[in-house]
Amino acid sequence: MAAYTWIDHTFDVVVVGAGGSGLRAALGCAQAGLKTACVTKVFPTRSHTVAAQGGISAALGNMGEDKWQWHMFDTVKGSDWLGDQDAIEYLTRNAPAAVYELEHWGVPFSRTENGKIYQRAFGGMTRNYGEAPVQRTCAAADRTGHAMLHTMYGQSLRYDVDFFVEYFALDLIMEDGACRGLTAWKLDDGTLHRFRAQTVVIATGGYGRAFLSCTGAHTQTGDGNAMVLRAGLPLQDMEFVQFHPTGIFPAGCLITEGARGEGGYLTNANGERFMERYAPTVKDLAPRDMVSRAMTVEIREGRGVGPNKDHIHLHLEHLDPKVLHERLPGISESAKIFAGVDVTREPIPVLPTVHYNMGGIPTNYHGEVLTKVNGEQRVAPGLMAVGEAACVSVHGANRLGSNSLIDLVVFGRAVGLRCGETLKANATQPMLAKDAGDAHLARFDKFRHANGKTSTAQLRDRMQRAMQDTCAVYRTGAVLQEGVDRMARLWDEAPDVRVTDRSLIWNTDLVETLEFDNLMGQAIVTVNGGLNRTESRGAHAREDFPERDDENWMKHTLAWLDAKTGKVRLDYRPVHTNTMTNEVEYIPPKKRVY
Ligand code: FUM
Repeated sequence: MAAYTWIDHTFDVVVVGAGGSGLRAALGCAQAGLKTACVTKVFPTRSHTVAAQGGISAALGNMGEDKWQWHMFDTVKGSDWLGDQDAIEYLTRNAPAAVYELEHWGVPFSRTENGKIYQRAFGGMTRNYGEAPVQRTCAAADRTGHAMLHTMYGQSLRYDVDFFVEYFALDLIMEDGACRGLTAWKLDDGTLHRFRAQTVVIATGGYGRAFLSCTGAHTQTGDGNAMVLRAGLPLQDMEFVQFHPTGIFPAGCLITEGARGEGGYLTNANGERFMERYAPTVKDLAPRDMVSRAMTVEIREGRGVGPNKDHIHLHLEHLDPKVLHERLPGISESAKIFAGVDVTREPIPVLPTVHYNMGGIPTNYHGEVLTKVNGEQRVAPGLMAVGEAACVSVHGANRLGSNSLIDLVVFGRAVGLRCGETLKANATQPMLAKDAGDAHLARFDKFRHANGKTSTAQLRDRMQRAMQDTCAVYRTGAVLQEGVDRMARLWDEAPDVRVTDRSLIWNTDLVETLEFDNLMGQAIVTVNGGLNRTESRGAHAREDFPERDDENWMKHTLAWLDAKTGKVRLDYRPVHTNTMTNEVEYIPPKKRVY
């Protein structure tokens, strides 16, 4: 488009996103000698990984016996048998080495008395295949993500990753089904950029902001997922949205599961420790989907606390103040600021809050993006994904707490290794087509000059309310259908959007509009996938189909979005029940009893 000019760049690898997975992937590619760029809409250490609290799982065995095979079993079971077992084996086997690597890079982990990395209990993490809770989650107090992100940012500078900070990625440059690069808008000077690369790695995180109440940053808008949908590729398992049991009521900010790992517990209006009824063995340390459902049932049946009986109490006041000070300083402060609660004296009001997207861009365990063409699974050339943006799928229908941070670094490392194996540094790349990026500019220009009657904030509010109302902890076909209808109406009304700022420099109105458009596609595939899946599995709890149905539904959803009409096409692919090696056997589905 004549109104805009491109500034062109060429790299071997361009990573989009600078959270834990993006930084680990970028530094791995740079270590492999590849010319690597990292394009990010926020300064790297402001990426959402910075907010991760409780820790990173790995069977180090510092607090008692542990084995990666137990970790693998817990992750398969936690995923409600939707996780791919080869990928889960890769994750849990490589987890200890990934944590030691972080330690050697300088992550200031909390320590045991004899100087080892401190590990705490987390939901669904057990010893000896479900016998009792195990302390497997390595922690830097309750600021583990913060510690990791700062350390990895330092390391990426050491390996000469080229950072493009405060660049908003617009779209992928696709040619004949292969990714050739991406386009981006530089927020502080308004220039437009075209990155040509042998491989683009999407590491843009989740899309929690499609919902009204979530623990995620306002920047968590799944921009990479949306680019993938617009590129005509599918997203996988988007109906599986995790609610974290302990968001502060009503603000929604996270209170780490580590609080229960250190001995905290939940009570209802009768002062009853109700989790003992729902999960007699692991109690408050059951997986998140089960705890969130139990809390919802308690509230629905009139046993919620507070004047409106609409939340639950989390108790820490019985813990030694020294433990609170040393292990949980961050959430002690959050409870004070957001609930006015002194955790040494009174319980914290909590409610399940959207926290994590199990779904995302389908990949294998090397990080290569998968698609399905004419019924056959294919790798999308030139495109990789990692972290919450990706669906490897190690979390299946429900992620265990602290399996996210380990996912970021194990698969970030895997991406670096794969790029090192498959790409040649400074290889000559074909020229991009002359009109490469024109369609991206047309979309950008359309929003920049949008002159409708409805503000982005109004549209976004309607989307977030529709998702919160219809895609919650418990779902039914009727409610999900309502969600599909509300989202379809909103899709039709969204072209009426009004952007008031026409400038190109620090135009937050335009940024939010692009983000809203990105969220819309993801919200639509989420409700459609949920409506079609007529069973209950992990975080997808259908009251009209309360049982897990392995015969018909032990399969991943693939969802394509028609970017013109907003219509969704669904297809499925089998769960990998094969493991990577012959050393571990396929873990067959059983009822999830904790
Ligand atoms: O509760 C938490 O600290 C969150 C951890 C996670 O989502 O893995």
